[in-house]
Amino acid sequence: MPAIAPDIHSLSPLSFRDALTGGEVTREDARAMFATAASFKRGPAGCREVLRGRSVVLVFEKPSLRTRLSFEVGVAKLGGHAVYYGMTTERIGERESVHDYARNLERWVDAIVARTYSHEVIEQMAQFARVPVINALSDEFHPCQALADLFTLQEHAGPLAGRRLAYIGDGNNVCCSLVLLATTLGLRVTVITPEGFEPPEEVRALASSAAANSGGAFTVTSDPGAVRGSDAVYTDAWTSMGFEHEAQRRRRVFEPYQVNAQLMATAGPDTLFMHCLPAHRGEEVTDEVIDSPRSIVFDQAENRMHVQNALLAHLLCAGEKPADRR
Ligand code: CP
Ligand code: NVA
Repeated sequence: MPAIAPDIHSLSPLSFRDALTGGEVTREDARAMFATAASFKRGPAGCREVLRGRSVVLVFEKPSLRTRLSFEVGVAKLGGHAVYYGMTTERIGERESVHDYARNLERWVDAIVARTYSHEVIEQMAQFARVPVINALSDEFHPCQALADLFTLQEHAGPLAGRRLAYIGDGNNVCCSLVLLATTLGLRVTVITPEGFEPPEEVRALASSAAANSGGAFTVTSDPGAVRGSDAVYTDAWTSMGFEHEAQRRRRVFEPYQVNAQLMATAGPDTLFMHCLPAHRGEEVTDEVIDSPRSIVFDQAENRMHVQNALLAHLLCAGEKPADRR
């Protein structure tokens, strides 16, 4: 049996137990997880022992490629066991209460990873379960994505504090988690949306206060020209899962917010392009931008796995002694 990597026994505890929005992550948490993610990415010996004997359930109400695969493959790489439990034909809480789902799951698994429509369901799971709950995307937040995005931006652009990040498009789940984490980490964040599609007031207030504390900045505007001077331009689907009935209207409203060659030229010659994927080519982004050398979208996708593995390792193994493994 390979030795357990020594650094696994010095993993620092995080300041939170449940990853629900991205707003619970402190600068120290992010620094610790990013260092662990980088070491997993380099592939240190002993990785396969990190989650040995641990099980994680993935309860998904919505479809997924990246989140499902990156958790399933990632947990296996750390020697653990991930079980996918698809709930795409019913909602959590329908067959039995959310309370009872949570109290069953905690008896079998060490962590619950859940993708839901209602964010309240994730909050209830976290309230009732005695194991960590990780939001794998709800209608309101996508914290795993934000962690991977900022780790990826750091890989490409260097230290994050003071970097200029422009998010353009719908002020949706991806946008909300991104702005909460990015402002905590000291970035200068501009959200550019058509009027009426801004992130909710509560998220804007949290982001403004995080920026004030970190030395970053947070601005919301409807002017696409505000991408000028950004280190990275980020966009996401104009119509998120669950909002398909609004797709036609959204295509009209969001047209001036497409990330195309002209918008990237306005942003700057070295501006990176980011997207959580799946992309809707020809809508929020053109082929020439997403396929350009400035696009780091597949690095973001790869890093989902390394960062989620780091999150799980810190949540489940921090404070563990070598003797605990025997
Ligand atoms: N970015 C992301 O969460 O992708 P999936 O919907 O494929 O999981
Ligand atoms: N905002 C998108 C993200 C998909 C990963 C959605 O919720 O459908």
